[in-house]
Amino acid sequence: MVSTATRIGDFQFDNCLMNAAGVFCMTREELAQVESSAAGSFVTKTATLEARAGNPEPRYVNTDLGSINSMGLPNKGLDYYLDYVIEEQNRIGSKPHVLSLVGMSPDETHTILKKVQASDYQGLVELNLSCPNVPGKPQIAYDFETTDTILKEVFSYYTKPLGIKLPPYFDIVHFDQAAAIFNKYPLVFVNCVNSIGNGLVIEDETVVIKPKNGFGGLGGDYIKPTALANVHAFYKRLNPSIQIIGTGGVKTGRDAFEHILCGASMVQLGTVLQKEGTEAFERITKELQTIMAEKGYETLDDFRGKLHYID
Ligand code: DHB
Repeated sequence: MVSTATRIGDFQFDNCLMNAAGVFCMTREELAQVESSAAGSFVTKTATLEARAGNPEPRYVNTDLGSINSMGLPNKGLDYYLDYVIEEQNRIGSKPHVLSLVGMSPDETHTILKKVQASDYQGLVELNLSCPNVPGKPQIAYDFETTDTILKEVFSYYTKPLGIKLPPYFDIVHFDQAAAIFNKYPLVFVNCVNSIGNGLVIEDETVVIKPKNGFGGLGGDYIKPTALANVHAFYKRLNPSIQIIGTGGVKTGRDAFEHILCGASMVQLGTVLQKEGTEAFERITKELQTIMAEKGYETLDDFRGKLHYID
């Protein structure tokens, strides 16, 4: 029997596929739809302390090869998502979940994480260090000094299971430098990758999204090779206690298989989920199971991280 069950930290999941933050996770209704699908878990829309309306529309567009977005962190505010994951955690038969968070400033991030620390929530938290779409706010994780400072401060008070969402890196030296920082902290996971930031898609003579004169984060086919490289680079560099969540360009079972081969313990669906809906979880799970069966693999452990190189 083939199993796609997995584990992140002390949490067991019946399936290794879940949504990527930003897709199907803005409202309780959307989160409940993911919960009742074949997904192994859900992650909430990245929450700020207060609710935000986000950027003007159009702010998300699907393309033949993926998607571009500049949402600008629209969300219903921390309490909305925190209350929901606590409610869910107390529901018999509930899956374990992930709460995604970031402040609009380091101070706000600490305020948020202190609230979560003091709450009844015992599940996973994903601190988003990689939002590319808020005008005037650079991505935290491209500034290694700030990233190190924030993590140092966070782990001075935060004792619950925490992971981070990373942007793609494009240079071997940056993989080395980033991994050296992450290895200093008791992170449960790193999630590679967020969208490739600040791409530009044009139709006829005009940009396709309104914010930032059309600049936005790319997802889908455009980003799979970059995502796989980041998953594998961090799998090879991080302490074994820090697991990898693979995100980027997954639209088939083969894509999920490749993320796991590169070292991912869990795989998230973004653009494909937006395009296809929650049916994508069952389809991609079945495709992954078929590949595993053909290769004689029974569990993800049989092939996770076992990417072959050419001698
Ligand atoms: C948004 C986009 C991201 O890639 C992210 O990590 C967080 C927020 C957004 O534009 O809403």
